[in-house]
Amino acid sequence: MSLRSAIEGVGSALPKRIMTNADISKIVDTSDEWIVERTGIKARHIAAEGETTRTLAVEAARKALDHAKLAPGDIDLIIVATSTPDKTFPATATQVQADLGVTTGAAFDVQAVCSGFVYGLTIADNFIRGGQAKCVLVIGSETFSRILDWNDRTTCVLFGDGAGAVVVRASTGLGTNQDRGILQCQIHSDGRYVDKLHVDGGPSTTKTVGHLRMEGREVFKHAVTNIASVMAETIAKAGLVPADIDWFVPHQANRRILEGTARKLGISEDRIVITLDQHGNTSAASIPLALDAAVRDGRIKKGQLVLMEAMGGGFTWGAVLARF
Ligand code: ACO
Repeated sequence: MSLRSAIEGVGSALPKRIMTNADISKIVDTSDEWIVERTGIKARHIAAEGETTRTLAVEAARKALDHAKLAPGDIDLIIVATSTPDKTFPATATQVQADLGVTTGAAFDVQAVCSGFVYGLTIADNFIRGGQAKCVLVIGSETFSRILDWNDRTTCVLFGDGAGAVVVRASTGLGTNQDRGILQCQIHSDGRYVDKLHVDGGPSTTKTVGHLRMEGREVFKHAVTNIASVMAETIAKAGLVPADIDWFVPHQANRRILEGTARKLGISEDRIVITLDQHGNTSAASIPLALDAAVRDGRIKKGQLVLMEAMGGGFTWGAVLARF
């Protein structure tokens, strides 16, 4: 028998306000046609005043707990993946802990930008398999609209706000790839590329929050290569081939990145969950938002194999393979 981390519940939260490409074209010199053709994005949700990374995270967490039929008191670890915390400190995870009324266990944030959710799940799986946690909330929550330069058309059209959460609980399996739960996690980073996608401010340098800056073409090039490679690595380590995977739930950055990686691995598009047309890139929140959509509309069923993967600033990248 071996310990496994089973995904028991999913939930998500989106700000009420929707900003379409037509709305953005009133702010910067762009068009619906350009954005759709280059990215696949049609609309994104933008947080209003009072809607924050913390409030979105709490809403997603409550829905995931309801879905898992668990109570906040069952949770012994809360991990929030975010690059847009409510405050420099304390961790957003501890703020979520307070709002959920949890006073035991531990809570901390993970900073791996768009790969944050994959990093968070990997940490949760290691805590569970190491016997240090039994029931973990992993949340990706972001308000990237607050760090965008709304005069820079090369970046402000790409991102949106939102949150997604999963409850991961210790279960037992046989240690084979037929088990329910997380079967494989792989995370990587390469700090040589820290300047390719970054925020130009921070408490210890400018003492400001700063704005997102990106060399889009460079990011694009590395994204397709790194994502395809970590997907192949993760599937192979589980003793499987791409054709065995039922659903691919990728980080939702750009439709052309998804198509490029799918082509490299020979994956047909009808097995990829795509929400970026309506959400844009919500960084660490994008995978659990897409996962929630596909679980709730019945596409992802119990027993199916799901591969989640992401790449983000750093660069960081990784993949998690789980049987639902
Ligand atoms: N509207 C209209 N024109 C624009 C816009 C816009 N919003 N943005 C750029 N342009 C113009 C440029 O100024 C340029 O004009 P020029 O030829 O006169 O100089 C032209 O469009 C082409 O610009 P490129 O940057 O070469 O366009 P590209 O095809 O590379 O697309 C994009 C840009 C969409 C950013 C692409 O590089 C990309 O998707 N990169 C990946 C970035 C990404 O997804 N980052 C997310 C974070 S990392 C992650 O999540 C994986």
